[in-house]
Parts: sequence; C-alpha cells; structure tokens
Amino acid sequence: MSSRKNLIKLQPVYLILIALLLVANGCEGPKGPAGPAGEQGIEGVDGEDGVDGEDGADGLDITEAACLTCHNDDALLEKRFQLNQHVHSTMPNSLSRGTSATCGRCHSHESFVSYVTTGEFTALESVIGLTCKSCHTLHNSSEVDSFSFGLRVTGGDVEYLTGGTETFGVDAPSNTCVTCHQPRRDYTYYDDTPAVATDSVSLTSSHAGPHYGITGSLIFGKGADDRNGTVALDQGEMAHASSGCVSCHMGEGRNHTFEPDVDNCQTCHSGASNFDMNGIPTKINDAVHAIELEFVTLGALEDDGEGGFDQTASSSAPTVLSGVQYSAFWNYLVLHSDHGSTYHNPPYVKAIINNVEENLGMTLTTWD
Ligand code: HEC
Ligand code: HEC
Ligand code: HEC
Ligand code: HEC
Ligand code: HEC
Ligand code: HEC
Repeated sequence: MSSRKNLIKLQPVYLILIALLLVANGCEGPKGPAGPAGEQGIEGVDGEDGVDGEDGADGLDITEAACLTCHNDDALLEKRFQLNQHVHSTMPNSLSRGTSATCGRCHSHESFVSYVTTGEFTALESVIGLTCKSCHTLHNSSEVDSFSFGLRVTGGDVEYLTGGTETFGVDAPSNTCVTCHQPRRDYTYYDDTPAVATDSVSLTSSHAGPHYGITGSLIFGKGADDRNGTVALDQGEMAHASSGCVSCHMGEGRNHTFEPDVDNCQTCHSGASNFDMNGIPTKINDAVHAIELEFVTLGALEDDGEGGFDQTASSSAPTVLSGVQYSAFWNYLVLHSDHGSTYHNPPYVKAIINNVEENLGMTLTTWD
C-alpha cells in the first residue's frame, strides 16, 4: 500500500524535472523578439517502477476454517452443556418478568443485550433466558476474524439502579455479573427520613427489600442501613470483592454451571475441604435463623411451612415498625435477599448480624 503511494508521488517529480530541463535550455542571451515556437522536445525517459508493496496478511475466508475454530471445538459443547444446567438458561423463577420494561433487562436475553448495547429497553412480547450471545459478542463483527468469546460488558464502572457505580476493575469479567446482580432499592425506598428510633415505618409489600441482586452491593460492603445501632458496619477492604464473582463461581476452567467449587477457594484458604471455613458459615446461618424467629414474634415474618419465612405485610394489613426495628428488618432483608450472603462478605455480614441483634435487643453473637 505505502509503496504504491510513493509511486504516485514520484510521477509529478519526474514531470517537474523534465519541465525544468526545458526551461533551462531556452534561457540564454539578451531578450530578442520572440521566435517561432520550437519543435516539441524529445520525450523524457520513463521513470523506474516503484518497489512492490508488501503482501497483506491472509484474510479469513468465510469457510469452514473460520467457523470451525469455535464450531468444532469441544469447549463450545461443554459450555453449552454446563449452561443448560443453570437457571440462567431458562430463568425458571423469573422469565415471566422478562417481557416487562422494568424487569426485563435482568430477566431476558433480549432486553439485557439491548440494555448493554444501546442503553435502552422496552416491553417485549416474547423473550428467552440467557444464551452464549447474551454475555459474549460472538458473531457481532462484520469481520470473521474478529469473532470471539469477548464479553459484551467491557470498561470499568457499572451503573447501579440505586445510584452511583461499582466495579471490579477495568474490563474485569465480574462486571458482567453485577450488571444484573445489583440491588433495585436501598433502605430509603421505604424510609427516607434521616433517622431513627422514633420513626414509624409502614411496609405494605410482601416483597419489601433490596431485590435478589443485592450481592452486587453486599460484596463491596454496602447496602445495609447504618442509621441505628453502635456496631460499626464499615469493615474496610473486602477480600472476597478482590476475588470477584467469576473466580469463585467459574474458576480457572470458566465453568458455566456458575457453581462455586472449593478448589476455587484454595488460592486463599489453603487446605480448605469445604465452604464452612472455621465453622463461620454455620454460625452465620444459625444467627440469621434466630433473627428470623424474632421477626416472627414481632409479626413481620411467618413460617412458610417449607423451612423458610414469608413477609406478612400487605396493603390491607401493613407491617408497622419503629425506626430501629425497620433498620433491623431492612438489614435482615439484605442478608435474606442475597442467596449466598453467608459466603460473599463474611466480615460485613458478621457486623450486619450484630447490628440487627443489637437493634432487636438480642444477645450479640461472638465470632471467635
Ligand atoms: C468465537 C467463536 C465462534 C466463531 C468463530 C463462530 N461461531 Fe457461530 N456460534 C458460536 C456460539 C458460541 C454459538 C451459540 C451456540 C449455542 O447456543 O450453543 C454460535 C451459534 C451459531 C449459529 C446458530 C444461530 C445463532 O446465531 O445462535 C450459527 C448459524 C452460527 N453460529 C454460524 C457461524 C458461522 C457461519 C461462522 C463462521 C463465519 C461462525 N458461526 C463462527 C461461536 C462462534
Ligand atoms: C442478564 C442478567 C444476568 C447476568 C449478566 C448474570 N446473571 Fe446470574 N442470574 C440472573 C437471574 C435473573 C437469575 C435467577 C433466574 C431465575 O431463577 O429465574 C440468576 C441466577 C444466578 C445464580 C443462581 C441463583 C440461584 O438461586 O440458584 C448464580 C449463582 C448466578 N446467577 C451467578 C452469576 C454470575 C457469577 C454471573 C456473571 C458471570 C451472572 N450470574 C450473570 C441474572 C443474571
Ligand atoms: C438490576 C437487575 C434486576 C432487575 C431490574 C429485576 N431483577 Fe429480579 N432478579 C435479579 C437477579 C440477579 C435475580 C436472581 C438472584 C438470585 O437468585 O440470587 C432476580 C430474581 C428474581 C426473582 C426470583 C426470585 C426467587 O425466589 O428465585 C423474581 C420473581 C424476580 N427477580 C422478579 C423481578 C421483577 C418482578 C422485577 C421488575 C419489577 C425484577 N425482578 C427486576 C435481578 C433483577
Ligand atoms: C451469564 C454470562 C455468560 C453466559 C450466558 C455465557 N458465558 Fe461464557 N463466559 C462468561 C464469563 C464471565 C467468562 C470469563 C471471561 C474472562 O475470563 O474474561 C466466560 C468465558 C467463556 C469462555 C472462555 C473464553 C476464554 O477466552 O478463555 C468460553 C469458551 C465461553 N465462555 C463460552 C461460552 C458459551 C459457548 C456459552 C453458551 C453456551 C457461554 N459462554 C455463555 C460469561 C458467560
Ligand atoms: C482472594 C482470596 C480469597 C478467596 C479466593 C476466597 N477467600 Fe474467603 N476469605 C479471604 C480472606 C482474606 C478472609 C478474611 C476476612 C476478610 O478479610 O474478608 C476470608 C474469610 C472467609 C470466611 C470467614 C472465615 C472466618 O473465619 O471469619 C469464609 C466463610 C470464607 N472466606 C469462605 C470462602 C469460600 C467458601 C471461598 C471459595 C468459594 C473463599 N472464601 C474464597 C480470602 C479469600
Ligand atoms: C469468595 C467466593 C465468592 C465470591 C467472590 C462470590 N460468590 Fe457467590 N457464592 C459463593 C458461595 C460459596 C455460594 C454458596 C453456594 C452453595 O451454597 O452451593 C455462593 C452463592 C451465590 C448465589 C446463590 C446461589 C444459590 O444456589 O442459591 C448467587 C446468586 C451468587 N453467589 C452470585 C454471586 C455474584 C453475582 C457474585 C459477584 C458479585 C458472587 N456471587 C461472588 C462464593 C462466592
């Protein structure tokens, strides 16, 4: 390419040289009357050919070879097999929300892609769960050799519905996860007054709380109501946040069942053979259970008969709490709404539990 350009540049240079030669020949003696025009001079010698340009790199033909890099690869089948085992692929508990403009960006392939690529999403008539192309760019490019398993979510800061941004770092793969696994509400949604004990907060929804994606805040040590109680919630640097969702949930092999494996903990917890490090997860679960029973007594929760608890509030029979009780209830809902809260941020979760216990007048769990 560049040598062809040179050739084009050289041509006028030759023309100018020839012209200068002709002018020089007719430039002698004092000026007489103009003679008749001379005969046309002899044509100059042709310039030399320019050097050949370098060959370009071979293009990828749209042939089997370009496509078979992936379509012949066991990795694709393996990942497909793994994804099929996960709720992401069918969204059994929530795909019915996928058509809604408010919910769809986290509950359907189509709206998620639309949100990530254009920032816009609307109500749709029919949607599917997550597929490879939800998270990966794949056939996005017009250049076959640019097809890749690159992630759609790139860059740094992920915008949160509750305001502000969070990030695992520039181009960190876990930023994909928190694009959906983030809260929809913070505690001010139900109680936006600055304080405190004397408040009376009325909950009318049986689904009050931050929504199930709260992991994306909890892991960074955020999301709890710190307006009541003396226990310090801020625990500084969070070791598990530095790990990121992907290294715990997908590991080195990038397992697409998204199920954490104890092998993925061993980089930091050497010798660990299960998730119950130092018995702390067991203690956390016991403490949360005791808190649930306390809220049953207060009338905010009821036993669902299947080992869990439901919120009792409805618009006709609201749950009315004091400010302190509300802080405790919100903070319990933070733990409850993150299905993996036991593991996601142990120092923060321990502090939240102690805060709830204090605000409910319970004995504080000791962790050592
Ligand atoms: C970077 C890897 C990669 C390359 C390269 C690639 N594909 Fe794909 N392709 C995929 C994946 C992953 C899927 C989805 C498989 C699944 O859902 O199980 C897919 C799906 C498809 C499908 C099914 C419809 C769809 O879009 O989901 C077609 C058709 C297809 N690819 C054609 C091609 C052709 C033609 C080429 C070459 C020009 C090609 N692919 C190159 C990874 C790739
Ligand atoms: C498009 C939004 C979206 C993205 C992106 C996403 N998730 Fe999810 N995830 C969901 C939804 C919605 C569910 C629940 C689906 C259901 O049960 O109906 C879910 C479920 C899960 C579950 C299982 C929860 C359970 O209770 O069984 C895990 C684990 C999980 N996601 C981890 C991840 C990780 C790790 C990433 C990043 C690699 C990620 N998710 C990316 C939306 C998303
Ligand atoms: C910012 C992303 C986001 C938005 C917006 C969102 N959700 Fe979700 N939702 C999630 C994630 C992530 C999960 C799964 C988390 C898990 O299983 O731990 C989930 C889970 C659910 C579940 C399954 C609960 C269960 O018990 O497994 C339901 C139902 C649900 N959402 C309903 C809704 C509705 C209704 C809306 C709209 C009003 C909505 N979601 C909006 C992210 C979102
Ligand atoms: C919920 C989001 C999500 C879905 C759905 C998903 N992936 Fe992934 N995938 C990821 C993340 C996150 C990574 C890790 C990327 C990284 O480490 O930079 C990854 C990594 C990979 C890798 C390894 C790429 C590399 O460069 O090492 C392959 C291959 C892959 N995915 C294939 C697939 C296939 C095939 C499907 C569909 C069957 C699929 N993925 C669906 C999120 C997803
Ligand atoms: C990046 C390193 C790292 C990885 C990976 C990691 N952890 Fe941790 N974990 C820590 C550190 C450091 C602490 C101490 C508390 C803190 O600073 O967060 C900790 C604390 C814990 C605790 C509380 C223990 C106690 O005595 O208080 C549990 C439980 C835990 N981790 C579980 C896990 C599980 C389960 C995995 C894998 C699925 C895992 N961790 C992976 C670094 C890690
Ligand atoms: C330190 C390792 C670690 C990190 C980091 C981590 N998780 Fe988890 N996560 C776990 C463990 C362990 C469980 C419990 C799995 C079980 O019970 O089988 C869990 C559970 C979950 C669940 C509930 C799964 C279920 O079956 O109910 C979801 C959803 C989830 N994590 C999403 C995430 C997201 C999103 C991130 C990043 C924001 C993340 N996790 C970061 C270790 C981790």
